[in-house]
Amino acid sequence: MPEEFISAKQIQWFPGHMAKTRRKIAEDLKLVDIVAEILDARIPESSKNPVLRDIVQSKPKVTILNKSDIADLNATAKWVTEYKRKNEKAIPIDAKNGRGIPEFYNAVREALKERIAAWERKGMSGRPIRIMILGIPNVGKSSLINRLTRGGAGKAEVQDRPGITRQNKWFTTQKGFELLDTPGVLWPKFDDPRVGRLLAYTGAIKDEILDIETLAAGLIELIMKLYPQAIQKRYSIELDKDLKGYEILELIGRKRGMFISGGEINTERAAIMFVDEFRAAKLGRLTLEHINGF
Ligand code: G4P
Repeated sequence: MPEEFISAKQIQWFPGHMAKTRRKIAEDLKLVDIVAEILDARIPESSKNPVLRDIVQSKPKVTILNKSDIADLNATAKWVTEYKRKNEKAIPIDAKNGRGIPEFYNAVREALKERIAAWERKGMSGRPIRIMILGIPNVGKSSLINRLTRGGAGKAEVQDRPGITRQNKWFTTQKGFELLDTPGVLWPKFDDPRVGRLLAYTGAIKDEILDIETLAAGLIELIMKLYPQAIQKRYSIELDKDLKGYEILELIGRKRGMFISGGEINTERAAIMFVDEFRAAKLGRLTLEHINGF
């Protein structure tokens, strides 16, 4: 984890819980036909679990690029091509509004077409397809399950709390699929500071444990690199390329009239607002991780 973001509290990722989750996933793989790994389309590589590939191994897999409604369309298209190049099928989805769901179902059927044909030959054509939904916290697992089960077995009630392993939860969808929610809590790649920062920017790490002004300043600098016009446009300010993130944060606070007594700029309020606005895509659809790095 990037030390500069961590305040008093620590994130609850314990080796014991990680080993248990790993074991449980490996065990439960026997219960499913395919794995769907959900990533955040704004940070696909950084929202991956570092060992999932080893655990899942030979199971068929479909990758979901969720939150594609708030990611850069071009960048998402490039990620899809990049995964295809690696023989991975990636489907952009917006679990909030249901976009991409038919494509997801098609990709699952396509990945399992030989098995489905075999079931049909054995007179098992009604056999539901069992999918394990895997993803790190906050990537949109419960939103997706809710979306897929709408009109099916009812609302998915999923709570993700790092360190707390949950019971198996199965959900039935309308279309002959059964979903198994991540057995346990999948941890992110938290030993790489760059990844930690990206997870923090997108809200995958709870803000209470972060220094919000440092986080906002870092996010501002990254956005200035990737989308130089986005901040200027949103806040109608002229920005010199050499300005530091914190200086830009002050300009944003000033522009929005955020002052504390004595005329000083309330940079904490400005930081909270800026991060919220980024996460709500008010600065545009911005992807923070691109194929060729930054
Ligand atoms: P999890 O089960 O993997 O932990 O994730 P969850 O579904 O709880 O989603 C985490 C946050 O991401 C939620 O926002 C959810 O609304 C949002 N989200 C999930 N899928 C999408 C998507 O495709 N697009 C967008 N734009 N957002 C998505 P939240 O702020 O925690 O809650 P709320 O805003 O829904 O109240």
